[in-house]
Amino acid sequence: MKILVTGGLGFIGSHTVVELQNEGFQVVIIDDLSNSSINVLDGIEAITGKKPVFEKLDLKEKQDVINFFEKHKDIAGVIHFAANKAVGESVNNPLMYYENNIGTLVYMLQQITKLEHQNFIFSSSCTVYGQAEELPITENAPVQAAESPYGNTKQVGEEIIRDTCKVNEKLNTIALRYFNPIGAHPTAEIGELPIGVPQNLVPYITQTAIGLREQLSVFGGDYPTPDGTCIRDYIHVVDLAKAHVVALQRLIGKKNASNYEIFNLGTGTGSSVLEVINSFEKVSGEKLNYKIVDRREGDVTAAYAETSYANDVLGWKTELTLDDAMASAWKWEQKVRS
Ligand code: WQD
Repeated sequence: MKILVTGGLGFIGSHTVVELQNEGFQVVIIDDLSNSSINVLDGIEAITGKKPVFEKLDLKEKQDVINFFEKHKDIAGVIHFAANKAVGESVNNPLMYYENNIGTLVYMLQQITKLEHQNFIFSSSCTVYGQAEELPITENAPVQAAESPYGNTKQVGEEIIRDTCKVNEKLNTIALRYFNPIGAHPTAEIGELPIGVPQNLVPYITQTAIGLREQLSVFGGDYPTPDGTCIRDYIHVVDLAKAHVVALQRLIGKKNASNYEIFNLGTGTGSSVLEVINSFEKVSGEKLNYKIVDRREGDVTAAYAETSYANDVLGWKTELTLDDAMASAWKWEQKVRS
């Protein structure tokens, strides 16, 4: 079965391609290489022995999207990762985010709703919850006003899909709301490749430890949490990738209860920034140079998933630990800089 993965050379996309190939799917990747490298294809092949079909395509070019789907009418499912995803950048450049994240979703759905098999997995984010009133966060928690244009593109994206599913009963969709994806494939053949100064915690930790960055700034030590630092649900990217295969198989096997389902993907455990640092120091044997500074604008105090719906209904749960993730992130950083 042929599966289209947009953004398939990106961090989560590439790990999902590996898991799809491990399950015997034939994969076609679309990527515009704006935030990824063509070399990721070699990393995927090194792991699975199979090189996915790759087409460099800008999904903002509507006619190119139409032509692609004309050529690939036998697609059995689509996993849509392609989007810009830097919170801070989206604040400074909202129109780039709305054009890319929303415009391309519309073009994709216009073509997918013409296919024989309309199985669509959407990459969403726990950012849609903002600072949830209740923790852990269930899928029924209210979606709150987005803290950034990036977060808003995920909220609006979900609404576009909901409205489209209402009038296209052949379109079957699952939106996956990721918590904080971290780590790398245990082979260190693929991993996170942030361009420029990393915005996210874990790549900043490993780049500090390897000597690329002087010191990690911990954004805030005065939050109402046990150790004063923010709490997040850090999920190993390999566990996250496997969830996409399970979700796709759910749709292909027509096991879905409705034609639009939403699942939180997390470990169910919250970890503070200092706990992540401690995990890194334990698994790497390195002493991390960090200091606690002022809070970062827009950060929520705590967010971690209530996982029973994903565990019991989707039939997926995380198997890897924070230490596994930090060890794989460190192994990857050392490999990339070697
Ligand atoms: C985690 C914690 C920071 C960097 C965002 C998006 C989310 C997803 C993941 C795309 C926070 C602290 C961070 C640093 C720090 N992105 N931190 N020093 O903000 O929870 O989530 O990225 O899909 O949608 O919202 O992740 O890794 O930036 O921050 O102290 O140099 O680490 O304050 O508490 P975040 P993050």
